[in-house]
Amino acid sequence: MCGIIGYTGKRDVAPLLVQGLRRLEYRGYDSAGIAVAGGRRFEVRKEVGRVADLERTVEANLPGSTGIAHTRWATHGGVTKENAHPHLDNEGRIVVVHNGIIENMAPLKARLIAEGAIFRSETDSEILAHLIAHFYHGYGSFGDSIVPDIAGDPVEAVRLALSRVRGTWGIAVMFLDHPGMIIAARNGSPLVIGLGDGETFIASDPHALVPYTRRVMFMADGELAQLDASGVQTWRLDGGAHTPSIETLEEEWGDGEQGDFPHFMLKEIHEQPEALRQCLSGRVLVEEGAAKLGGLDLSPRELVDISRVTLLGCGTSYHACLVGAMAIEQLARIPATAEIASEFRHRNPVIDPHGLHFAVSQSGETADTLGAVKEIQRKGGRVMGAVNVVGSSIARSCGRGVYLHSGPEMAVASTKAYSNMVAALYLFTLQLARTTHLSAHAGREFAEHLQAIPSLVEQYLADPGPIDEAVRWVCESKVTFFLGRGLSASVAAEGALKLMEVSYIPSIAYPSGEMKHGPIALLEKGSPVICIAPDDALKAKTASNLQECRARGARIILVHTAGDPIAELGDVSIPVPATLEWFTPLLTVLPLQLLAYKAGLALGRDIDRPRNLAKSVTVE
Ligand code: BG6
Repeated sequence: MCGIIGYTGKRDVAPLLVQGLRRLEYRGYDSAGIAVAGGRRFEVRKEVGRVADLERTVEANLPGSTGIAHTRWATHGGVTKENAHPHLDNEGRIVVVHNGIIENMAPLKARLIAEGAIFRSETDSEILAHLIAHFYHGYGSFGDSIVPDIAGDPVEAVRLALSRVRGTWGIAVMFLDHPGMIIAARNGSPLVIGLGDGETFIASDPHALVPYTRRVMFMADGELAQLDASGVQTWRLDGGAHTPSIETLEEEWGDGEQGDFPHFMLKEIHEQPEALRQCLSGRVLVEEGAAKLGGLDLSPRELVDISRVTLLGCGTSYHACLVGAMAIEQLARIPATAEIASEFRHRNPVIDPHGLHFAVSQSGETADTLGAVKEIQRKGGRVMGAVNVVGSSIARSCGRGVYLHSGPEMAVASTKAYSNMVAALYLFTLQLARTTHLSAHAGREFAEHLQAIPSLVEQYLADPGPIDEAVRWVCESKVTFFLGRGLSASVAAEGALKLMEVSYIPSIAYPSGEMKHGPIALLEKGSPVICIAPDDALKAKTASNLQECRARGARIILVHTAGDPIAELGDVSIPVPATLEWFTPLLTVLPLQLLAYKAGLALGRDIDRPRNLAKSVTVE
C-alpha cells in the first residue's frame, strides 16, 4: 500500500506535497517522490527512505503550484530510486503516481517495449505512464482492438489506458501540455478529492487533507476525475455519468500529531483510556443493563433472528475478532466465529442469510477485509463495519456499522484501535445478549464493569509494573512464547504480533493447552515464556501449563490479576487491575503493548515505521 497526494491551486506545491506525504507515511515508507509542473518540464525528485530523506533533496523555492507525490510500500521491484514514484513516459511529458497492483503487467510491458517504450524501473506502475502516452500521442490500436483517435485528450488517454489494465489502482496523472490539471482514477485503492477555495486536492486518505479542507468527495471504484484549481469533473471509466456526493469530514477527537511523546506508539498506548471513553460514550445504557449501537440500525426483532455471527479481520483486527467471537458465543449464546479475512474470501464460504457478519478494520481500507465484504454481499449476506476511519471504503461498502472513535492511529502497530475494536464488540455482545436471554441485572453488572474499564486502563498505565526485566529477557531470546487460554489465548496472539511487528523478535503464541503437543520442544534453559493468566475460570489450567514450561527451564513472565497469589509462579510478575473475566483482554494486553514498545526501543528499531510493514495494506 502506498500514499498519494496531489494539489492544483495557488500555493507553492512542493512544501505542501512533502507535508502531505508526512501525514501519509504510515501507508508505506520505503521510498518517496514528488513531481511538480514547473513549466517546460516536470521537476521530479525521488529518494529511497523516509519522507524526511526526500525533503532534503527538494529545494524550498522549487517553483510550481501543481504537483503529485507518492510514498511507497514496494510490491513490484526492489527499494531503489528508480522504482520510487513518480514515473515518466519516455518524452517526460506525462507523469504518474500509482497505488495498487497491475496483474497483467507482463503482456502489457512486452507490448509497450515492442513498440519502443524504454522502461527505467522494475515496477508495474511505470507501465501506466507509457500506456497513457501510447493513447495520448494517438499511436492507435494497442494489440487487438481499434481505438478512436483521441490524441491530445488527457481524460480519454487515461480511460483507454486503464481499460487495458487488470488489477487495482489509485492513480494521479499530470500532462505537461495541460498545466494545472490532474487526472485521477480509482479501482480498489482509496482516493479522496478535497475541495478548497480556488484549489483542489487529491489524497489516499482524508487525514492528509484535514489541514486544508473538510469538504471532500470519496472516489468510488471505476471512477475517473479531472481536477483543476476551479474544481473537479468526474465520470465513470465505462463512460457512464457519475455525480459523487460532497461530504464534510466530521471533527474527530485526537490529532494525528506526535505531541511530546517520543513515538506515536507510546502516545497511542497512553491515549487508550480516552479512546475507550469516546467509544463507550452514549452507547452503554447502565440503567437498562444494555447497550445501543445506533449505526447498526438493527431492531430487537432483527437481533433475535440472528442465527450466527462471523467476525472478519486481518492482523490485530483479527485478534480483536477472536475476543469478540468468544464473548458473543459465551454471553449471547449465539454461534460466533472469527475469520482471517484473506482466507475467508477465497474459501467459497457458505453464507447464512440469517447470519450477521462484521468486517473489523482500523483503516477501513485493508484489501483482504474489503474483499471479504464484497464476497459476503455477493452471496446475499449481511455485513456491518466496525471501523475507525470515517468514510473509508469498508465503512461505505457496508453502509451500516459502528465507528470505533479511537482517533487517528499513526503508529503501524495498532494499540488503541485494538482496544476500541474489542470494546465495540463487547457493546454489540451486550446489545445482542439482552435481546436473547441476558437478564437486566446481569446486563447492568456487565455494563457497569465495561464503563469502569477506561479508569482501570489509566490505573495500570500509571504503574505498569516490572516490564524492564522482561524486556531484557525477550531481547536476549531466540524466540519468545506467549501462552493463554480462552480470551487470553487471543491476547497472547496479539502480544506475539506486537513483539514481532515492533522488535522483530521471533514470537510464537499458543493456546497454553496446546504447548505440550509440540511447541514445547523449542524450550531451552532461559527461554522467556509470557503467560497471560488473569483471575478467570481457566487460571488453574494455565498455571499447570506454566509449570510444564518452567520444568524445562523456561523463564516465566506472568501477567496476572493484582493481588492474586498466582503471582508467585512468575519469575517476573506483572499485575493488572481486577475486572470481570470478560474484560480482562482490555487490561492484560497493556503490558504486552509496553513490552513490545520497550523491546523495540532497546533494539533500536524504528518503532512507528517497522520494516516491511504498512499501516494497512490495500493490495492483496
Ligand atoms: C497491517 C497492519 O498492515 O494491517 C496491522 O500493520 C493491522 O497493524 C492490519 O492490524 C489490519 O489493518 P486494519 O486497518 O484492517 O485494521
